[in-house]
Amino acid sequence: MTTLPDSLEDERVLTMTLDGNAVTFTEGETLYEVASRQGKRVPTLCYDDRLKAFGACRLCVVQVEGMRAPVASCATLATDGMVAHTTTEAIEKYRRTLLEMVVSENRSLDVNPLSGYASQELVALVDRYEARTGRFAGKKSGTSNVEDTNPFILRDYDNCISCYRCVRVCAEQEGDYAINVMGRGFGTQIITEFNHRLKDSQCTFCGQCVQTCPTGALGDRKALRDADTEGEIKKTRSICPYCGVGCSVDLLTKGDKLVGVQPAMDGPANEGALCIKGQFAFDFVQHSDRLSKPMIRREDGELHECEWDEALEFAASGFRKVRDRYGRQAIYGVASGRAPHEAAYTMQKFIRASFGTNYIDNCSRA
Ligand code: SF4
Ligand code: SF4
Ligand code: FES
Repeated sequence: MTTLPDSLEDERVLTMTLDGNAVTFTEGETLYEVASRQGKRVPTLCYDDRLKAFGACRLCVVQVEGMRAPVASCATLATDGMVAHTTTEAIEKYRRTLLEMVVSENRSLDVNPLSGYASQELVALVDRYEARTGRFAGKKSGTSNVEDTNPFILRDYDNCISCYRCVRVCAEQEGDYAINVMGRGFGTQIITEFNHRLKDSQCTFCGQCVQTCPTGALGDRKALRDADTEGEIKKTRSICPYCGVGCSVDLLTKGDKLVGVQPAMDGPANEGALCIKGQFAFDFVQHSDRLSKPMIRREDGELHECEWDEALEFAASGFRKVRDRYGRQAIYGVASGRAPHEAAYTMQKFIRASFGTNYIDNCSRA
């Protein structure tokens, strides 16, 4: 008898019943993954599909026949023959009550979408479940840390719901462990080591915590500079210009103005990750110092506009002077990591053939 290799046996198709229908899945899939694939709208708050399941918010609960209490679908594996219900009246009531407990703590649900990629998740669920915000009003957790005046990340923990997505993305995705959780219950607080400012911690300002926060407690300070700028926010898919990795980004614009950058969660090279440059370093695009015409610094020390031919001849004579005075190895070429093959080929040819040196490199390193 022919036996299947282990990898194929691991992927054998299993069957369960979901909301009355037989559905198939493979071993290792969670109930949430199976339900999502079937188009079920199971609500989540502490879930980010790039991270390990955490099971903190309990919003994704489903009823499994034979189990006494509802289970968190994001943290429960589907098993062969299982019978589960995602949307019973009792489950929906349970979710609504949980949401009402969560939002009773939040100072505000009116969060600007420029705050971050996931910043509207909580308010969207409150609207969907028509949850009452003041039902459990009383003691609150989370102390705002707006005195952390770094230019990139707003830390407004009055809106924190202790989902720990920020802490987990920092550890699991970035490997930075810059932030953690201190205290329990109403004393819970997201902090850096010794509660210093982010700039004095292990933080690399990658912005991952900002983009996964479902409440706007962490906000993109650079994008929020344009919170009051007129116009709809438009997203345009593009590629980060900085290095050879080629991370996918969504550029946020209002009218003609670039107001922010968000990582593309489905970007094949980055899967939602960005570094500080791709995330925050976009002011050069509209900076008044940006050159839009060729210029030459004349004898008066000032830059003056000129024609392209003159600028190219000026640059060529500068190269010749360096070569004649210091030798060919005084010239070193660095090509852009984002240049296409043809441009990279031309650049190395230019350095090797024109100057007779192999001092040529590119910046394709993150
Ligand atoms: S910006 Fe990046 S490194 Fe800094 S705390 Fe957030 S996830 Fe961690
Ligand atoms: S700051 Fe945001 S992501 Fe972090 S625990 Fe609070 S709500 Fe969750
Ligand atoms: S999304 Fe499953 S417990 Fe939070």
